[in-house]
Amino acid sequence: MRTVEWDYDRQLVKMIDQRKLPAIFEIVSFNNYLEVAMSIREMVVRGAPAIGAAAAFGMALAAKQSQAVTRTDFERDLAAAAEQLRATRPTAVNLAWALQRMLAVVTNKEIISLDDLRQAVLKESQRLADEDVEINLRMARHGAALIKDGDTILHHCNTGSLATVDWGTALGVIRMANEQGKKIHVLLDETRPLLQGARLSAWECEQYHIPYSLIVDNAAGHFMRTGQVDICFVGADRAAANGDIANKIGTYKVAVVAKENGIPFFPVVPTSTVDLSLPTGDAIPIEERDSAEVTELTLFGRAVASVGAKVRNPAFDVTPYKYVTGIVTEYGVVYPPYSINLRHAVETEQAKNLTPRR
Ligand code: MRU
Repeated sequence: MRTVEWDYDRQLVKMIDQRKLPAIFEIVSFNNYLEVAMSIREMVVRGAPAIGAAAAFGMALAAKQSQAVTRTDFERDLAAAAEQLRATRPTAVNLAWALQRMLAVVTNKEIISLDDLRQAVLKESQRLADEDVEINLRMARHGAALIKDGDTILHHCNTGSLATVDWGTALGVIRMANEQGKKIHVLLDETRPLLQGARLSAWECEQYHIPYSLIVDNAAGHFMRTGQVDICFVGADRAAANGDIANKIGTYKVAVVAKENGIPFFPVVPTSTVDLSLPTGDAIPIEERDSAEVTELTLFGRAVASVGAKVRNPAFDVTPYKYVTGIVTEYGVVYPPYSINLRHAVETEQAKNLTPRR
């Protein structure tokens, strides 16, 4: 099944519980948008595009839940739901982008009855989810062209089907190259503290028969300096107008070491992840998560950190554009100057979607 989807029989949202993988493959269902908000906050669902789709389906639930009998009350209920969903995770701009799309339907005055509005919100959430898969496939084809037969690829975090509705961003590029028959090998950063690389990317590589080795985050520099990496692919939670990229903590170090060693570094970024309102990455909000994510890891049956250890736990970092060789989007691979070329890619893709929808 897809990472997140609408169940048309039961009229609820279903998703794969990513907290339990790889040990347990479990599908969880929610019939209340507040539960969807919780699922995003607690990372039942994670990865920027998957979060956006989950929030969109959350809005379809909110529309179903609303007891409003007037248009004003309905709009007020849905705006309140959007606020709750928006507050769950601050860095991934896909969340705000998806909610904006749903609210545009809610306030579309061409749709008159509340029942029609409820249907229209669901239809838009389904369209957003379907488009995500289509966009990932387009990015995968553009990105796979950058991979040569025999390449060893470094990858950080999880950017596969689990981080999206289906297929994936950076791992989707790698999967496409593998399916095209290129002989590749992937080095997967385990990605502390929540180990999305070890838990999720390794599991996906098994599913899709992609040859890989799992490495500790600290080994990435060694493999790059010793000539054992040909190209790096990562995802992004938000890109600024100048091409700065926010992604999972540790991405910045990968990018700097890649540049130092002359290794190309490509973020794979749907245009929905580009925030043209932010001139540089310095304005991207960085989520700080609970210290328990760092202290409660156990080794040999015991917590790794000393009791009372003080922790800083930023979940993302910003990689300045000067380290970015090119940005793979559904429009194509965008090269510097990003302030011109990234805007052009985003505006071109937006223009394709401007036809009014019901
Ligand atoms: O905290 P997470 O697991 O949601 O972080 C995910 C990432 O950083 C991914 O690289 C990013 O969302 C882009 S991949 C689709």
